[in-house]
Amino acid sequence: MLKDRHLIDPSDFSLEELNEVFTLAEKIIKNPKEFSHICDNKILATLFYEPSTRTRFSFESAMMKLGGSVLGFSEPNSTSASKGETLADTITMVSIYSDIIAMRHPKEGSARVASLYSNSPVINAGDGGHQHPTQTLTDLLTIKELKGDLKNKVIGICGDLKYGRTVHSLIKAMSRYEGNEFVLISPKELRIPEYIREEILVKNNIKFKEVEKLEDVIDEVDILYMTRIQKERFFNEEEYIRLKDSYVLDMEKMDKAKNDMIVMHPLPRVNEISVEVDKDSRAKYFAQAEYGMYVRMALICKLLGVA
Ligand code: CP
Repeated sequence: MLKDRHLIDPSDFSLEELNEVFTLAEKIIKNPKEFSHICDNKILATLFYEPSTRTRFSFESAMMKLGGSVLGFSEPNSTSASKGETLADTITMVSIYSDIIAMRHPKEGSARVASLYSNSPVINAGDGGHQHPTQTLTDLLTIKELKGDLKNKVIGICGDLKYGRTVHSLIKAMSRYEGNEFVLISPKELRIPEYIREEILVKNNIKFKEVEKLEDVIDEVDILYMTRIQKERFFNEEEYIRLKDSYVLDMEKMDKAKNDMIVMHPLPRVNEISVEVDKDSRAKYFAQAEYGMYVRMALICKLLGVA
């Protein structure tokens, strides 16, 4: 039962519950009109303490397509947070004015804190370098729709594996499905954090390898998940400048990949996927962002208990 639950970490939902969300998303994709008034009179609050294009707009679009309304902010300085109001008090107030809350915040753990003060379901829309569970729902639905299922895949993840929260969430989530293995491609400075390596991969006997060169392994993967080097999480600008162009996926590299490999990216991209790749039928990152809207529609319905 997902009604009135929070979504803070992808592992908050069982595999059966995730499947419930995906099944509903698939129904919405097939027949969106059937759902166009299902959230009449419901209000989604979007509290974005950090910049966003896809997550905020897709949440807002999702709620509007379900017949509901949206309030919120994308600039915390326009709220009483700028006068020193605590997150706890802001959430207490917003949960009075709305039925469901999606929040992005730069501090790890902030979404969990928000859930303690909210009478409405809280959805973590990204907390610092920690988790981004609705991106994970987006990624899983994309893989399910485009590769048939979520099992027995070789998943290459390339770029900033240290700070990229979508990477941490994706590894945690795909490790729960049978037979998946990972090829982790990053500069040594940006490898996955120790807790992901030890607590998720090693402990669960998941097959993985860590390499530095994309071109050496691109022919092995079923899914190539490219990521941006996360400038905003670096403490040292010189190090960011040194590492920022570590990987550029171009057609020369794409020519070495499998014909049915798919390229994903949570977006925004900077330089890591050359625009020439956009025309390749294996480039699925814009389709992925669209699946993100449908999966958020399904999630809102489930947490509000309307479908
Ligand atoms: N993928 C993602 O979270 O994009 P935004 O930062 O634009 O929301």
